[in-house]
Amino acid sequence: MPQQPTINLIDRFGRKVDYLRISITDRCDFRCLYCMAEDMTFLPREQVLSLEEIYRIAKAFTGLGVRKIRVTGGEPLVRRGALQLLTNIASLDGLDELVLTTNGSQLEEMAAPLKSAGVKRITISLDTLDANKFKALTRTGDLAKVLRGIQAACEAGFERIKINAVILKGRNHEEVINLVQFAINHGIDISFIEEMPLGQVNQHDRSSAYYASDRIKADLAAQFTLIASTEKTGGPSVYYKIPGASTRIGFISPHSANFCASCNRVRLTAEGRLLLCLGNEHSVDLKAVVRQHPEDDAILRQTIIDAMRIKPEKHEFNIHEQPVILRHMNVTGG
Ligand code: GTP
Ligand code: 5AD
Ligand code: SF4
Repeated sequence: MPQQPTINLIDRFGRKVDYLRISITDRCDFRCLYCMAEDMTFLPREQVLSLEEIYRIAKAFTGLGVRKIRVTGGEPLVRRGALQLLTNIASLDGLDELVLTTNGSQLEEMAAPLKSAGVKRITISLDTLDANKFKALTRTGDLAKVLRGIQAACEAGFERIKINAVILKGRNHEEVINLVQFAINHGIDISFIEEMPLGQVNQHDRSSAYYASDRIKADLAAQFTLIASTEKTGGPSVYYKIPGASTRIGFISPHSANFCASCNRVRLTAEGRLLLCLGNEHSVDLKAVVRQHPEDDAILRQTIIDAMRIKPEKHEFNIHEQPVILRHMNVTGG
C-alpha cells in the first residue's frame, strides 16, 4: 500500500503539535503527597485503554507528524506488558524518540530491558535524598531502591537521564544544592518543578508550599554559577549549565514563567481521553472512537486532526484556591 502523506497537527494559535505524552496506567506504587490523596480509587480495568488500543492511537499520531512520545503513568512500569508496548511504539515509522517518565521503583531490574526496548531518554522523579523525607513525601517509597534504580539506569547507556524534583517549601526546599550535586556526580540532568494544583490532595497545603523557581536559583547561587543555556529537550524546562559539568539544570515554572506559547504537546490519559492541555479539561474521547471503529483508522485520524481546534491557549492555575482541575496528575502523567 502506498504510504499516507504525513499531516502536521496545528492548533488555532499556530502551534505545531509533534509531542504526545501517554499515561498507560493511573496506578502507582507510590502515593506522592502532591500527586495523590492517600486513599485513591483507581480506574476499573475495562475503562483503561488496552495495550493494543494505545499502540493503535500512538501509530495514528506518528502518521500525523508526532515525532516524540513520552510514556508516563501513574507509574508506567507497574502495567503488565509495558515493555512490549514500548518495544512496539519505539519502532513506529517517523518517531524520533521514545522517552519515559518513571518513579524509579523498578528501574533496578528494568533499566537494561528498557534500553533494549528502544527507550532513548529517561526521566526519574526524585524529590529528596533523605530517606525519611522520601518516605514522608511518597508515603510508600523506598529511597535506597530508587537510588539503585538510578545507578542501573546510568549503567544501561541511555542517551540522557533526567531527574525531576517537585520543590515544596518546608519539605524539601533545603535540598536543592544536594540534588544538583547528586546530578553532577552522576553526569545526569535535573529539572525543578513548581507544584501545580491538579486534583484535591489532603495532608498538604499547596499555597504555603509554593516555592518559585527564582528562589531555587537564588539558593543554588550560594554554591554554583548558573549560566543560561539555549538547549531544549522538547519540554517546558528552561535550562542552565554549570561551568565544567555536563549536567543541565532545568526549571519548569508553570506559575512564575508561563511556557504555554511554545506548547508542542497533547496527552492521552489512561482512560483514552485526548487531553489538549494539562491545565484545562478540553478533551476528546478517543477510547470511544477506537472501540466504535475498530477497523477504521481514517475516523481516528480525522478526530485527532479536528481536536486541535479546541486546544486552549494556556493554563490558568491558582495555587491559592481549591483546584479547578479535579483530575489528579496520575491520570494524566504530568
Ligand atoms: P523533556 O520532554 O525531556 O523535555 O522532559 P519534560 O520536562 O517535558 O518531561 P517531564 O516528564 O520531565 O515533564 C516534567 C513536568 O513538566 C511534568 O511532570 C509536568 O509537571 C510539567 N509539564 C510538562 N508539560 C507541561 C504542560 O504542557 N503544561 C504544564 N502546565 N506543565 C507541564
Ligand atoms: N505538580 C507538579 N508536578 C507534579 N508531578 C506530579 N504531581 C505534580 C503536581 N501536582 C510530577 C512528578 C513527576 C511527574 C510525572 O509529575 O513529580 O516528576
Ligand atoms: Fe506515583 Fe508519580 Fe504520582 Fe508519585 S508523582 S504518586 S510516583 S504517579
